[in-house]
Amino acid sequence: MEMEKMNVQCNSVVDNFEEVCPGKVIKFKPPLYKQRYQFVRDLVDQHKPKKVADLGCGDTELLRLLKIYPCIQLLVGVDIDEEKLQSNGHHLSPYLGEFVKPRSLDLTVTLYHGSVVERDSRLRGFDLISCIEVIEHLDSDNLARFPEVLFGYLSPAMVVISTPNSEFNPLFPIVTLRDVDHKFEWNRMEFQTWALGVANRYNYSVEFTGVGKPPAGAEHVGFCTQIGVFRKNSEEAGLPCIPEQHHRHIYKAVYTITYPSLQQERVLKFELVGEVLLQVERLRLGHLRKLREQKRESGTGPKD
Ligand SMILES: C[S@@+](CC[C@H](N)C(=O)[O-])C[C@H]1O[C@@H](n2cnc3c(N)ncnc32)[C@H](O)[C@@H]1O
Repeated sequence: MEMEKMNVQCNSVVDNFEEVCPGKVIKFKPPLYKQRYQFVRDLVDQHKPKKVADLGCGDTELLRLLKIYPCIQLLVGVDIDEEKLQSNGHHLSPYLGEFVKPRSLDLTVTLYHGSVVERDSRLRGFDLISCIEVIEHLDSDNLARFPEVLFGYLSPAMVVISTPNSEFNPLFPIVTLRDVDHKFEWNRMEFQTWALGVANRYNYSVEFTGVGKPPAGAEHVGFCTQIGVFRKNSEEAGLPCIPEQHHRHIYKAVYTITYPSLQQERVLKFELVGEVLLQVERLRLGHLRKLREQKRESGTGPKD
């Protein structure tokens, strides 16, 4: 129990090091979780994916950041914690401004309750799937099933997986595992061996990087969060064929919203009518201004 308490504290240590351990030298600015989200946002900026899923989306914070990207037309979050999804769905609904100035392209956001080791055909063939700080929560059976589901069955064009780098842990006070629910934390060799094995098996390439730079003098430990970016080698091969009976909808949709967009006839009509009214009003005001000027010039109008 004592150890659990320490671990709970050390979980927050990782993201809010300064507040929890004043006087310690490691600072993550921006906080580590924001650096992880920013990493995914940069990938979206770079590759402009249309269909994006976040597996183990938790409080949906990353999805909230991603929904503003005009290239994304389908955004999906999956988590095993249904309550988290229920209480955070509303954060994904459109703002007033998104009704006033609709997007050019459609966007549907859906949250599914389910496990990352279950196959649901609605998630097949995405452009980008992120899995941020999730694999370390899987027990050994689920970890063994996960690559076949993600790379073999869902088969997205690109995958980004992040997980703690255990080599960084000695820089934290009293850290064994960073969270009580972590089943393991890997060093770089362990993560890279796993990732390369998976990439080989499912015909992906993988590059390694991370976020959360170590402090000066401790560069040898590497990033606090290690990241693998996987890209499918045979883009032209498309999705592996699966028989019709394997098209399954296992996940339970707990929230879904479609954003107003100019691709929807009703929204387009509304926008066009708005634009016509605006132009008519401009013409009317311009005409009135001209009439006033003419009257002033002919001496029949009010003086300034
Ligand atoms: C540390 S949180 C990370 C949340 C989010 N990805 C982020 O970076 O803010 C881990 C999340 O994985 C979810 N999770 C754990 N095991 C899962 C599984 N088998 N299937 C789906 N989600 C799972 C947990 O419910 C939790 O929300």
